[in-house]
Amino acid sequence: MILITGATGVVGRETVRLLAEQGAKVAAVTRDPHADLPAGARPVHPAEVATLDGVEAILLSPRAAGATAAGLLTRAREAGTSRVVVLSAVTVPYPAGLPRFREQFQAVEDLATGSGLDCTILRCADFAANTLAWAGQVRATGTVRGAYPGARTSTIDERDIAAVAALALTGAAHAGQTYLLTGEQSLSQAEKVAALGAALDRPLTFVEAAPDEIRRGMLAAGLPDEVPDRLLGSLADYAREPGPTSDTVRRLLGRPARTYATWAHDHRAAFTTAAHR
Ligand SMILES: NC(=O)c1ccc[n+]([C@@H]2O[C@H](COP(=O)([O-])OP(=O)(O)OC[C@H]3O[C@@H](n4cnc5c(N)ncnc54)[C@H](OP(=O)(O)O)[C@@H]3O)[C@@H](O)[C@H]2O)c1
Repeated sequence: MILITGATGVVGRETVRLLAEQGAKVAAVTRDPHADLPAGARPVHPAEVATLDGVEAILLSPRAAGATAAGLLTRAREAGTSRVVVLSAVTVPYPAGLPRFREQFQAVEDLATGSGLDCTILRCADFAANTLAWAGQVRATGTVRGAYPGARTSTIDERDIAAVAALALTGAAHAGQTYLLTGEQSLSQAEKVAALGAALDRPLTFVEAAPDEIRRGMLAAGLPDEVPDRLLGSLADYAREPGPTSDTVRRLLGRPARTYATWAHDHRAAFTTAAHR
């Protein structure tokens, strides 16, 4: 059985789907007893994880596992689990943003590499799904108001992360490896908005705003400080120096990484229909 923490997140959900499609037994960790999970996956509440037997491999989402990660890995080692795959971030080797966020990823990497399990670290660039945050503005105004239009990253399609995670969870070949997972195209925020407009067949513009205005707007919308801290800190750095680009997806999956344009095309409904988030 393969245990997926963060199973309702964008990477976890797709990893569960891919593994279930391959016929693997999947335990999907979620606090929501009514979570809409792919067919074949068994929902498991975080409090039940310690009671599971026969877990061969674990996908560790730092955000979802949080403070329980250390205990989870200790029990896994005792119970004979072989592998752990960690969803980390490119900011570990390429610092950007506030140090405390990078340190959180580093701490989970350290726990996993010190756990005694075979460990694969996936250091991911920003997910394409992060741009779903633009959906409300796009639908309402045809613009995206944000800070740092020139901030460049090689955004990764979360479906590519899930495909690599599924490989590493199901075979021994990736034990001990650390992979930098990014898209292959470095795009500024303004270029991503233009690509989204092309996918929607509708011109969209990025309207630059001061970082403080964006921060105040997020806090007024009820988001915790952590969200603007994380976002604006990294965008400020990526405006000075682009995020890294790798060909790891191509090397591991034998095909190019999906482009942001492809992601935008495949997620058009989220930007046109309010029923999608
Ligand atoms: N977004 C990025 O650009 C990026 C880049 C690099 C790395 N990462 C990392 O990649 C990982 C996966 O991200 P993701 O967006 O797919 O999903 P995620 O943030 O890990 O969340 C997945 C699920 O975890 C559960 N969860 C969230 N907060 C929790 C908490 N405090 N306690 C217990 N459960 C919690 C929720 O599920 P339920 O409500 O169903 O329990 C949520 O749907 C994260 O650890 C993230 O830090 C993200």
